[in-house]
Amino acid sequence: MTADHRLLPEKVALITGASSGIGAAAARVFAREGARVVLAARREDRLKALVTELREQGAQAEYVVADMTRREDTRAAVACAVDTYGRLDVAFNNAGWGAGREPLHEMDDELYDRILDVNLRGVWNCLRDEIAAMLTTGGGAIVNTSSVGGLLATPVAAPYVAAKHAVVGLTKAAAAEYAAQGIRINSVAPGTTRTEVVTEWFAAVPGIEEALHAATPQPRTAEPAEIAEAAAWLCSDRSSFVTGAIMPVDGGFTMV
Ligand SMILES: NC(=O)c1ccc[n+]([C@@H]2O[C@H](COP(=O)([O-])OP(=O)(O)OC[C@H]3O[C@@H](n4cnc5c(N)ncnc54)[C@H](O)[C@@H]3O)[C@@H](O)[C@H]2O)c1
Repeated sequence: MTADHRLLPEKVALITGASSGIGAAAARVFAREGARVVLAARREDRLKALVTELREQGAQAEYVVADMTRREDTRAAVACAVDTYGRLDVAFNNAGWGAGREPLHEMDDELYDRILDVNLRGVWNCLRDEIAAMLTTGGGAIVNTSSVGGLLATPVAAPYVAAKHAVVGLTKAAAAEYAAQGIRINSVAPGTTRTEVVTEWFAAVPGIEEALHAATPQPRTAEPAEIAEAAAWLCSDRSSFVTGAIMPVDGGFTMV
């Protein structure tokens, strides 16, 4: 028998926000590394297509249409993993959204509520249901997506910066609380990553891509798979003594 050198052999993994961008890249990376994946997001057509692609490659994959801001949906996503595969080993809480190009004093409550809801309440909902499931099987690993905006401030993005800083706090608080019970909880903090929203942003704001590259020691935009690789490692047993860590995956943006 040959040794299995994959990062996540047979792990049951929930990935939220899996219909596009970093989440879709994570679905491919986690499946390639041996995980049985449950993909959760709101757009069924995209989830269905991705599950079909992964199954064609021999992976085990399911999807759940879920809005992470709704507790009943996060419960259903975790239940899908447990009902289908018998357990939940790892989770990548990646669903998120940022918008707003106006100054803070002109932002309305609706934008604030929406940004806090998906980026913070979504992770909060997921954490509670995932931890409850993992406690029944003796442990697991969770990765929450923060942002470089969770480590430092950028202008005209106050609610997003606040929410992503809160994800850092939530990650550390949860990690401290459950470390002794075998659940590791970490966060990735991506720099600017070439997803659909970012491509649209670059097109809408001339010069922004070049300005970001100029401020980044590795002067380029990340690819979604580069963030997914970090999340996969943090979810794997290879990071077995890492918890409460916030890992920038940003080409050095936050170190300078
Ligand atoms: N792309 C970047 O430059 C960048 C940088 C730092 C952090 N991030 C973070 O990375 C994560 C993924 O972003 P992305 O760039 O891949 O964007 P994306 O829009 O391609 O992906 C976000 C995913 O989350 C899903 N989603 C949004 N709200 C949801 C909700 N309420 N319930 C369920 N699913 C929901 C979307 O449908 C999508 O599948 C987000 O948390 C984002 O804040 C992205």
